[in-house]
Amino acid sequence: MSRQVNMVELAALGVLKRDGRRIVPALCQRLRVLIRSGQLQAGDQLPSSRLLAMQLGISRSSVTSAYEQLIAEGYLDAEHGAGTRVCRALPNVQKPSGMAITAPTPALPPRSASLAAVASAFNPLPAIPFAMAVPCGKVAPDRHWLRLRQRVLASQPAQLGSYGDPQGLPALREALCDYLRTSRAVHCEPDQIILTEGTQQGLYVAAMTLLEPGHTALVEDPAYGGLTALLTSLGITMAHVPVDEQGIDIARGEQMAPGAQVAFVTPSHHYPLGMPLSMPRRLALLAWAQRNQSWIVEDDYDSELRFGSPPFPALQGIDGERVIYLGTFSKVLAPSLRLGYLVAPPALKPALLGARILLGRGSPLAEQHVLAAYLKQGFFNAHLRRVRSVYAKARDNLLAMLTDALPWLTVQPSDQGMHLLLWLPPEMDDVAICRQALARGVALRPLSPTYAEPHHARGLLLGFGGFTDEQMSAAIAVLVPILEMARTPHR
Ligand SMILES: Cc1ncc(COP(=O)(O)O)c(C=O)c1O
Repeated sequence: MSRQVNMVELAALGVLKRDGRRIVPALCQRLRVLIRSGQLQAGDQLPSSRLLAMQLGISRSSVTSAYEQLIAEGYLDAEHGAGTRVCRALPNVQKPSGMAITAPTPALPPRSASLAAVASAFNPLPAIPFAMAVPCGKVAPDRHWLRLRQRVLASQPAQLGSYGDPQGLPALREALCDYLRTSRAVHCEPDQIILTEGTQQGLYVAAMTLLEPGHTALVEDPAYGGLTALLTSLGITMAHVPVDEQGIDIARGEQMAPGAQVAFVTPSHHYPLGMPLSMPRRLALLAWAQRNQSWIVEDDYDSELRFGSPPFPALQGIDGERVIYLGTFSKVLAPSLRLGYLVAPPALKPALLGARILLGRGSPLAEQHVLAAYLKQGFFNAHLRRVRSVYAKARDNLLAMLTDALPWLTVQPSDQGMHLLLWLPPEMDDVAICRQALARGVALRPLSPTYAEPHHARGLLLGFGGFTDEQMSAAIAVLVPILEMARTPHR
């Protein structure tokens, strides 16, 4: 038996906001909520449009329009001569006690907890010293880039509106292939290259392709949080292999997890400690992959930014058969481009491409055209030379400032990248220091959370990519008293 809807009940649920044209959507939404929450049940008769209009003080045509919209959406039925009712085919919802409409608390799968933790841990730091990966204004997309971009936008509007090749623009893959062969010693053909929206996506594509829950991955300890959080969310077991001054020791990894399917490594510039993987360790890692038919994922995130000498050649170039190579333009151009790439071993290419398609149908097309021209016309190599010299100077200046202002602390020697590591004594709380510094307008990353287990290592990661000497000096002036204070109780 359907019940007659009490018009007073409808009106009592609040006054509709009468801001002219918005009255119909507002009434529709009110009725949808009432139906979905069980306040109105399947078969319930609604008041006539005339009565409801009077009740709400709105025009009758507004009520009629709202009813028509909800009939079209399937919430309401109109029967000739019987007025308008809540659609009888809708399932009945338990009416909540009282008038409050509370959102149900859904049972979420366990993965959602690790994803929510990622969302809170990955709040981007504001672009203040010493946030990481902020490109320097002097070197970020230059006038050549801007000119090429204008030309691309003006000349190819029709093509730019389509999906494009999900593997990446062929012209860009060719240009990238030339660059990777000559500058990174990577062995590849254009058909092995898959454009990504950055290394973070490349890591996801690789993990999705190679690993299933129950599999084990070897990761460096400490490691990039974007990798460990990703593997956690996918239910992958991790063996955290401690790194030493030569990088990851695969013999140790093999002892810890003999059947590991994949090793994720940063051979050119370990994140976050900064050393390269030594040649004996590289060869041992490649031999492990061959012996076990396992895979290596090489994250080459800022290898181009080596200052004193040429960049270290990629691991992939020694033997690429079992290596997925990941590169990014985030460090050397700008993270906002969301452009990176992977080089697939031929046997894995179809699966990696499938995973990349499922994670997003392709990278932004206009930027791919611009980047292809930027690489082909030689601007990228010139840009890299400029970036290296600007960042080398910023690194020198930050190092001098830190040594001068904090002579009791040690800076990890570094000839590469966009950040420095300031070691702290083990009794100092790097997480609390970062929190205090951020409250005073200085952004830092703590070292200790990059370790898997509670670890004695403490330190601060200071990005110097995008800041002037004046900004860095002012930030150090803020940082010094915070560090002095944190040190005092232990003196
Ligand atoms: C070690 C490492 N790998 C990967 C990434 C992700 O880079 P992308 O912006 O290309 O996704 C970062 C970003 O900071 C990183 O530090």
